[in-house]
Amino acid sequence: MKLKNLRVNNIEHPLGFQIMPLSFSWTVEEAGEAKEQQSARIRIYENVETEADMEGKKAVYDSGEVTDADSLDYSVNVELKPRTRYQWSVEVTADTKEQVSAESWFETGKADEAWEGQWIAPEQQTSSAILRKAFVYDGSAKSARLYMCGLGVYECYINGEKAGDEYLAPGYHSYDFHLQAQTYDVSALLKEGENEIEIWLGEGWFKGRLGFDGGFTDIYGDKLYAIAELYAGEECLVKTDTTWEVLESPIRFNNIYDGEVYDARQQKCRIAGAKLLQESPKECGEIFDRYSLPIKAKEIFSIKEVLHTPSGDTVLDFGQNLTGWVEFDCRISAGKGIRLTASEIMQDQEFYHENLRTAKTEFLYLSDGKEAHVRPHFTFYGFRYMKAEVVQEVRNGEDVTLRCEESLSDEEWKTQFQAVHLRSDFDQIGWIETGDQKVNQLFSNALWGQKGNFLDVPTDCPQRDERLGWTGDAQVFSETACFNMYMPAFYRKYMWDMRAEQSILDGAVPNVVPWLKRGMVAEYGACPWADAGVIIPWNVYCHYGSKTLLAEMYPGMKAWVDYQRRQEEAEGGLHLIKGGFHFADWLALDNEQPGPFGATDPLYIASAYYFRCTKIIADAAEILGYEEAPEYKKLAEEIKKAIRAAYFDESGACCSKTQTGAAIAIVFGLIEDTAQEEGDRLHQRVAENNGHLNTGFVGTPLLCPALTKTGHYKIAVDLLLNEDYPSWLYSVNLGATTIWERWNSVLPDGKMNPEGMNSLNHYSYGSIGAWMYGDVAGIREAEPGFRKAVIKPNPDARLKYVDCKMETAAGIYESHWKYEEDGSVTYRFHVPFGAKALICLPDGRTETVAAGDYTY
Ligand code: BGC
Repeated sequence: MKLKNLRVNNIEHPLGFQIMPLSFSWTVEEAGEAKEQQSARIRIYENVETEADMEGKKAVYDSGEVTDADSLDYSVNVELKPRTRYQWSVEVTADTKEQVSAESWFETGKADEAWEGQWIAPEQQTSSAILRKAFVYDGSAKSARLYMCGLGVYECYINGEKAGDEYLAPGYHSYDFHLQAQTYDVSALLKEGENEIEIWLGEGWFKGRLGFDGGFTDIYGDKLYAIAELYAGEECLVKTDTTWEVLESPIRFNNIYDGEVYDARQQKCRIAGAKLLQESPKECGEIFDRYSLPIKAKEIFSIKEVLHTPSGDTVLDFGQNLTGWVEFDCRISAGKGIRLTASEIMQDQEFYHENLRTAKTEFLYLSDGKEAHVRPHFTFYGFRYMKAEVVQEVRNGEDVTLRCEESLSDEEWKTQFQAVHLRSDFDQIGWIETGDQKVNQLFSNALWGQKGNFLDVPTDCPQRDERLGWTGDAQVFSETACFNMYMPAFYRKYMWDMRAEQSILDGAVPNVVPWLKRGMVAEYGACPWADAGVIIPWNVYCHYGSKTLLAEMYPGMKAWVDYQRRQEEAEGGLHLIKGGFHFADWLALDNEQPGPFGATDPLYIASAYYFRCTKIIADAAEILGYEEAPEYKKLAEEIKKAIRAAYFDESGACCSKTQTGAAIAIVFGLIEDTAQEEGDRLHQRVAENNGHLNTGFVGTPLLCPALTKTGHYKIAVDLLLNEDYPSWLYSVNLGATTIWERWNSVLPDGKMNPEGMNSLNHYSYGSIGAWMYGDVAGIREAEPGFRKAVIKPNPDARLKYVDCKMETAAGIYESHWKYEEDGSVTYRFHVPFGAKALICLPDGRTETVAAGDYTY
């Protein structure tokens, strides 16, 4: 028996994160004969270094033997001190009386302790600045911590070494409501004697250009800011104040969309007369311990091929559309530079990046002649290709231009340059492999959609002049996201931002979060974008089973439903959504009118989502023991009745005669009694559309589940396996390594769709993933967090086999099926310790099983 995944608030070893409310979780693996936890004991100790220390010390919390300790969410009410390391242990006794124990730690940040450091800001407006302070340290402390924040984005160096391994801190959040402090363990960076600390600042999302059509600058502030406290043991050694120096930064230019220019020849000298203001960011919220997971380098890619285009460009192909940047070992002479320009696709064998619209997506490094390992600091790119140039600065009076020089050799590019994938620090928990390589590529493309777009905020796309937290995209993909990766902490932060934005919108949810509050992206309350406010937290609860987190997110969930309720009641109380702007089935192909809107009645979709969200509130309220549960249950029933009367004929057929219309009715449970007939109509509609889908953002995640639910699994697999437009594998056949924004963002001849708005890394249609886990491999949660599951695999000979593994909150599930040579199917399942599963085989056999391995 082994204890794994010891987490506090769904994070392993949280250092300086928002820690309240405090909740612990763990899983038991390699359990052998043991089936379930009989009891557990949780203990918390303050500032102990070793296990032996724990023995002699009094715990600040000791649960004693608890027979109902919830391993998914063991919440503890204990007062914690700021800036303090806590050790914790969990001891599990199984039904076999076997015992196992393990230790871990968490550490608090500043919590509600007042800051001794001051917010400081260079008076002169710049794109980048360096703030420096020298200090003396006697070397006496055992450990050192840095608590800080910098705005827009920052990196901090102590004696030339970077604090922490995260980038683009403090990340992207609703700065106008709250700021986030990071905590770094800098024990190894300090030395006895003279030391220096440098804070490098850049524009980021806070100050730099953000939004399409040119966007907006200085959205949250027009200056760069920093606040810091460096502690050695209990002593605050250094803190920010106006005695810090302002240095010239080698970063001449930076922003998220356009990239960075780094001039290594620029000495980091003190700017004479530069003044620091003691000023806190004016339009911003208070500073809190962080919610955001750090943005880290998660994977490295070597160059797959160096391409030479007919017009003479050199283009590095990394083989995967990814988000991050390119790092290299620079060995060129002073005054020369390397310029990299990002792109997602080649056109006619030439470099192309017009689909990134106004985003320049460049990185220019000007060398001082010294060998250096080089990377950008305050930007990132969504790319597969990089045009790579060696340039030389040419000065003509005031005029400085760049002249292209002779390129490096293929060998030099290949050995000196690599792509680094950046994203928030969460990991994969779901794997599916089938006997069809193209389907496997599709699964990988959806995974990469998530990897590339979950950089602190779930964005629509990571490459063009957008990269915004569009709530609709996030909503439709959230179920797949929760299957693929371990997401609770990531979404906790997104929902924190969302609730803040809702607080000034009477509960409505903006179309993008963080909300830009400017231009077109200032709109809110559109279906099904705003429904992210309810659906995302609900998916998080269903997948990870944390009631503590559900309770935290519940007020925002309820606020959105209440907003709609007030609106519809003011319009007569028909329990239908009767107006407003709705994206609805965005980008569906079923509308004869040109444009991005689908044919399914947007007010039907909006009312259906109103029903779904209200029902979720009723369920969530019941789980949390809130007295309003029956009220919302009743409201949900009334909404359903109203939808039935308004949008279905007497036979129960949906008046929106589209694939999406039927799929919503079936999956949302609008027509339980006539679902089968509607499913048959859906089947026919797909067949009549030449066996192809024509759904958009709303219908796509629901289509295959609706067909499967109504006994039309075969045609659902047909849709999965279609290779011609419109289908998932159409893009795979054209070489996609991520999911595209449109079903035909690239045309069959390899040319970009001339309609515009074509990102090649837009995860929405990757939402097919949830169906692959839930119906093809057949693992669905029957109780939140997969404490109970239904395993109902749906084999299909065309896929030959499926191997699926899921590291759920409750432990590891596996579902395998395989067609043998004689045409029979073998099934293998694994159910984790502490869980129960209802196994349902296609031949009608069912069995409820406890932890263990099962073969049929
Ligand atoms: C984004 C979408 C988004 C949509 C809504 C687009 O520009 O990329 O994915 O949800 O706008 O208008």
